[in-house]
Amino acid sequence: MTVAIRATDLVKSYIAGVRALDRVSLEVSSGEVLVVMGPSGSGKSTLIRTFNGLERLDGGALDVLGVRLDSTHADPQVRAIRRRVGMVFQQFNLFPHLSILENISLAPVKVQKRPKAEVEQRALELLEQMGIQEQAEKYPAQLSGGQQQRVAIARALALDPEVMLFDEPTSALDPERVKEVLDAMRQLARGGMTMVVVTHEIGFAREVADRVMFMDQGQVVETSDPVTFFSGAREERSRRFLSQMV
Ligand SMILES: Nc1ncnc2c1ncn2[C@@H]1O[C@H](COP(=O)(O)OP(=O)(O)OP(=O)(O)O)[C@@H](O)[C@H]1O
Ligand SMILES: [Mg+2]
Repeated sequence: MTVAIRATDLVKSYIAGVRALDRVSLEVSSGEVLVVMGPSGSGKSTLIRTFNGLERLDGGALDVLGVRLDSTHADPQVRAIRRRVGMVFQQFNLFPHLSILENISLAPVKVQKRPKAEVEQRALELLEQMGIQEQAEKYPAQLSGGQQQRVAIARALALDPEVMLFDEPTSALDPERVKEVLDAMRQLARGGMTMVVVTHEIGFAREVADRVMFMDQGQVVETSDPVTFFSGAREERSRRFLSQMV
């Protein structure tokens, strides 16, 4: 099986002497869905932000789709990775003054220099895939949170990424809007997308994750298949976290 992401002894310190990532090693296979869980401040966001070069490493090395990232944070490598790894955040960060179609088409046209007509055609297909094709001409403020987040996913997919990173994509949503976003992600996973998902949605993790990784204090505590993790996590720290969740 091809390795999409290989992390070796990643270290990240925002503040001298404090490790947000403390020698994190892991592998994500091509087509795999890895769910990352852990308490607040355990380093989940920091970790996945290193995967597309948003955070500079202080130690260790990453191989993402065959491109190496390390503490040198070399510009060509970072740019090569950003093109191939999409990311969706808790906040949707859509441009308020652009229509949905324009939000999705902007980067493929301006950055990737692809023909506008082709990009818009693809954008409409992605909106259809996300179940919101009728929203194309509207503006972000006219959409619900769940619809906006699906636009954010479509926008990331419009760049044809090989890996998708999600950082708590449903935690800013009203409860009744969570399912529609998780459904879109589920469908993406079924299509074979390589995904790393930080989420506390246990139902999603149980059903969609190939593996669940649990972090605490910048370290990987355990990585298990979801059945094992949710019914009999190996580590006491994981079990304590899970018992506080439900
Ligand atoms: N920009 C920053 N500057 C300084 N410290 C930071 C910064 N970003 C994160 N940290 C620190 O790094 C550690 C890991 O933070 P991170 O945001 O990765 O955790 P998290 O697991 O994503 O938490 P949450 O569940 O609250 O999102 C925390 O101690 C946090 O305070
Ligand atoms: Mg976070």
